[in-house]
Amino acid sequence: MPSPDNPFGVYVHWPFCLSKCPYCDFNSHVRRAPVDEPRFVRAFTAEIAATAARAPDRTVSAIFFGGGTPSLMQPATVGAIMESIARHWRIAPDAEVTLEANPTSVEAARFRGYRAAGVNRVSLGVQSLDDHVLAELGRTHSAREALDAVAIARAIFDRYSFDLIYARPRQTPQEWESELRLALGEAGEHLSLYQLTIEADTPFAALHAAGKLKTPDDDTARALYDITQEICGAHGLPAYEISNHARAGGESRHNLIYWRGHEYAGVGPGAHGRLDIGGDRHAIATEKQPEAWLTRVETQGHGLITDDTLTREEMADEFLLMGLRLAEGIDIARYTALAGRSLDPARIAMLREHGLVETTSQGRLRVTLPGFPVLDAVVADLAA
Ligand SMILES: C[S@@+](CC[C@H](N)C(=O)[O-])C[C@H]1O[C@@H](n2cnc3c(N)ncnc32)[C@H](O)[C@@H]1O
Ligand code: SF4
Repeated sequence: MPSPDNPFGVYVHWPFCLSKCPYCDFNSHVRRAPVDEPRFVRAFTAEIAATAARAPDRTVSAIFFGGGTPSLMQPATVGAIMESIARHWRIAPDAEVTLEANPTSVEAARFRGYRAAGVNRVSLGVQSLDDHVLAELGRTHSAREALDAVAIARAIFDRYSFDLIYARPRQTPQEWESELRLALGEAGEHLSLYQLTIEADTPFAALHAAGKLKTPDDDTARALYDITQEICGAHGLPAYEISNHARAGGESRHNLIYWRGHEYAGVGPGAHGRLDIGGDRHAIATEKQPEAWLTRVETQGHGLITDDTLTREEMADEFLLMGLRLAEGIDIARYTALAGRSLDPARIAMLREHGLVETTSQGRLRVTLPGFPVLDAVVADLAA
């Protein structure tokens, strides 16, 4: 996997969607009136300038337009934000520039414009290849439309990925196997495969609580997970992260910045960042509500509502939590340097005996395939 010494990412959050999917708790909002994109561009420009003033002289290795639905932005809006990033930081010549897109024909029609604006990778929210399931998930596209959008992405961008959600209500291992095989036939170098999570305060959470939406039991969920690993591995797209699969070199470089504990700026409503300022790591977050974010940026030049200096212990916990999501695991010596203490060898030995983690001769600790379904418990045990 590519790993420049000091990778630096920029996350740009576009907080609008055409409709709200009933399972989703991302910071996304539906607006009746058209969004005033030039006003947002001015605010993004101001927030990028304010962030770069605190964290100057960085070389940007990855930019990620996430949402919400960034494919609702006009290409000129994406272009203006790219220009503003380039005015304040150096952009590496081989920087990865990803945009998340919903797979509708209207949005795919903007792909050429995004490429001209500097985007070189798209990540499409396909979610399912079954029209009944798409309707149940509240999606506004059909499977055919999604596959057409994937084909357009393949023709226009060097790199593309798409997302599927599995472990859905009533889904059998056989059904998932055939859907996954179909998806792999359309996949490039990268696929994100998320198990359906029932997020608090969503319509799915209400249905789930009322017994009207049942997620697979533990045995079925485990069978679905095992099939995913087996089929993707055999197809040359093994999991490099708990929910992300890629050929070697096809990993999302932006997301690797998060998981490897590197530095990134977050701009836009509800964006998070981790900036190294004056030898300290700052955990940064902006106002989530889009109009309140605009007002803050317009009055104070940035939308920050959180700016915490992390303690050594917090940095070490975060490094463990993020790094163990990766198949490559963590560098044990880096953990020790961050925490100022070693991981407990007795706990590692116990987890190893249970086949949940392994250590390598290069001094890395990583979670095994059987360990990933119980990752939260493994991390909690090691961090205790
Ligand atoms: C910010 S969203 C996607 C962007 C785009 N708006 C879309 O829906 O196509 C990122 C991805 O998270 C996944 N996701 C969102 N909510 C989820 C949930 N409750 N359980 C599992 N995956 C979820 C979906 O696969 C989605 O594509
Ligand atoms: S899944 Fe995507 S389209 Fe649906 S509400 Fe969430 S961010 Fe918006």
